[in-house]
Amino acid sequence: MTRETWATRLGFILAAVGSAVGLGNVWRFPWMTAQNGGSAFLLIYLAIVILVGVPGLLGEFVIGRRAKRNPVGALRDLSGSRGWALVGALGVATATVLLSFYSVVGGWILRYFLESLYGFVGTAPYAGEPGAHFSAISFGPEAVAFHLVFLGLTAAIVVSGVRRGIELGTKLMMPAIVVLLAGLAVWAGTQDGALAGYEFFLSFDASTVRANWLDLLAPAAGQALFTLSLGAGTMLVYASYLGEDQSLPADATTIAVLNTAVGVLAGLVVFPLLFSLGVEPGSGGPGALFVGLAGAFATLPAGALIGTLFFGVVLLAALSSAISILEIPVAFLVDEFALSRRTAVGAVSGVIALGGVANALQSSLFGFIAGQVVDTLLTLGLLLFLLFVGWQLGPVAVEEFRKGAGATTARLATTWRYFVGTVIPVFLAFTLLTGLGLDGMIGRWAVVAVAVAVTVVAAAVFNRSRTAA
Ligand code: PFF
Repeated sequence: MTRETWATRLGFILAAVGSAVGLGNVWRFPWMTAQNGGSAFLLIYLAIVILVGVPGLLGEFVIGRRAKRNPVGALRDLSGSRGWALVGALGVATATVLLSFYSVVGGWILRYFLESLYGFVGTAPYAGEPGAHFSAISFGPEAVAFHLVFLGLTAAIVVSGVRRGIELGTKLMMPAIVVLLAGLAVWAGTQDGALAGYEFFLSFDASTVRANWLDLLAPAAGQALFTLSLGAGTMLVYASYLGEDQSLPADATTIAVLNTAVGVLAGLVVFPLLFSLGVEPGSGGPGALFVGLAGAFATLPAGALIGTLFFGVVLLAALSSAISILEIPVAFLVDEFALSRRTAVGAVSGVIALGGVANALQSSLFGFIAGQVVDTLLTLGLLLFLLFVGWQLGPVAVEEFRKGAGATTARLATTWRYFVGTVIPVFLAFTLLTGLGLDGMIGRWAVVAVAVAVTVVAAAVFNRSRTAA
């Protein structure tokens, strides 16, 4: 059977933006920004998106388009080594773990969407006690049920294939998300107290950045990878359905810019609303969106309508990301074991359904996976993908980067290769080890030294294995 491809370039871009724009932008981004002091975090996050995110996207794109395979097959075929296939397998495993918690949050969103749609907003148990409502529904049998429905919707799109499922679905969902979110942002700006929200989000205070930037690196990097869908192989798999004629650098930049724009737009909805209702944005943790905003909608005159639109947007964003996560293990089974798409989707969804049940019943497990486990796996995954690009593929990556790119962009290829092979891995190793708490044990500069050492050794080993091959 011939492998499917995207019907159009726009289709690929929208699917990739659809993957990037998700709960990371609307749920995790405001929560992270609030927890880390607002605009200082935003600034560092933006820098990481440009300096690590765009080159990182290109890394996954180059591997995927070159090999035209899932992460396991791609790394194995391009290197001729089984060891590298394991790195691809890490991506497949990460995707499976990731979707098992993502789908639980998707289930919450689905529930809030339906509750708003049916006008429960403003009535008990919603009004007055949004916090109690969230605690009552977030973990337990009902959370399991909504997780399963959300996963079912995701599977229904993926089973229809690359063109008729993913491409068509994202082509319909993405414009709706942008239009609705822009409308909501305008409306949020008319609320009393909105100004305080903008100030928190956008006023830039150089002294907090100077005082805290080292502490903000790890959370900002984690957020940047999560929001750009980097490190599990989603972007690798999406690029594996591409033709040769397309400029990967141009597409990577477009995707990062659109994703950031939607993130900022979401902030322009969320922060003015929280401030206009006097909800402290940093206080709610992962529940902030549900508690703060659902509480807000309950007190507003047109709350049911606004709530429906808002949770509708978030639901579409979550779905268009969930399909991209599910596609990784599905592509693996289809490519490597010649399973039909239907069987592959069924098998993978079964495993994720079970994992999600565990997460939906155990809030401590959920918190651990949604936070540290996912951050660590994505960072490690991207680190290894980029070492592969820089040292194993080397000149091949440079050649692939140049295909379809304009003359000016093509000149950046070698610089990019060394950047993704040296500076970025050191940075990712640093955030990985800091995220694991190593800096508390041996101090920050020792962690930097370890990160450099790890990268140099890895580069030497991989560089040799290429010459030997
Ligand atoms: N980028 C998605 C979001 O912001 O919600 C989440 C995500 C998708 C992360 C795919 C990682 C991934 F591989």
